Amino acid sequence: MLDLKTFRNKDIQNAFKSGGKELSVSKVYAIANQKGGVGKTTTTRNLGAALVERGRTVLLIDLDQQGSLTAYCGVDPEALNSSIYNVFASYIDFNHEPVPLSPIISITSKLHLVPANEELAALDLELIHAYSREEILKKALAPVKAQYDYILIDCPPNLSLLVVNALVAATNVIVTLQTDYLATRGVNRLIKIINAVQTRLNPELTIDGILLTMADLRTRHAKTIIERTRTNFENNILIFDTITKLYAPLKDTPIIGQSILDLDSTSQASQSFRALAKEIESLPSTVNGGS
Ligand SMILES: Nc1ncnc2c1ncn2[C@@H]1O[C@H](COP(=O)(O)OP(=O)(O)OP(=O)(O)O)[C@@H](O)[C@H]1O
Ligand SMILES: [Mg+2]
Repeated sequence: MLDLKTFRNKDIQNAFKSGGKELSVSKVYAIANQKGGVGKTTTTRNLGAALVERGRTVLLIDLDQQGSLTAYCGVDPEALNSSIYNVFASYIDFNHEPVPLSPIISITSKLHLVPANEELAALDLELIHAYSREEILKKALAPVKAQYDYILIDCPPNLSLLVVNALVAATNVIVTLQTDYLATRGVNRLIKIINAVQTRLNPELTIDGILLTMADLRTRHAKTIIERTRTNFENNILIFDTITKLYAPLKDTPIIGQSILDLDSTSQASQSFRALAKEIESLPSTVNGGS
């Protein structure tokens, strides 16, 4: 287990690598849930914006063939000449040197994006025969990691090799859980997969916590799910104090390619993502599922 001292040493090493201007946190977050439509991309985009507001330098990585995060950053997935697909493909092709992580698109000076599009759809089959197929993203991130305080990986809604790549590359995981009974089914399976990755491939992976999303707090149903989730996981996984509530304007933000913090800075949704960023930054730096 990493203790605070180890963490600080690592910070100092990272800062040294990046020119020693300031201490770099260099955490890699996988935002995951195999269920579709549970707030992964919304969390990735807006948590990224909230961390930037706190002065952090953030790289967002779109790992979903839907290209939702890419669009949410104002980049047209269909107009890309290259994407994260090309990076993975270069590691599969033994005839060429792997290409560095690219393209890295500057959304703002402190917010960068590695985009994706539907080309990723074929990748899982191609990866089956690749050497060290679970570690490709980790290798691709290694040279750029120290340049960022946070790298946030938006996972696709499945448990594919791409998700395993995200979990192997990550230092931390956030599970987004929609505050809805049907959406909560299956979370134990996800936790088991994360635990298997921790045991076999990435012992330093920490489950930061479960983020309850899209809660309609006017309903008894949402309150029951929140209570149950807290009870079910109270002994082993943190449930973030922050809960993102249903907020209809969030649906508009991907259309205009902006975060809710850009669009409506004082909204309760913006405050929630700021609170989440603060909560994450205040967590102790432990590994393997919390202190
Ligand atoms: N708090 C919220 N209030 C209202 N709408 C929301 C909220 N969070 C997300 N949404 C909307 O719900 C839909 C699904 O959200 P999102 O794309 O973030 O989920 P996802 O888990 O990434 O989905 P997928 O699994 O398909 O990638 C989107 O239309 C998004 O705009
Ligand atoms: Mg998504």
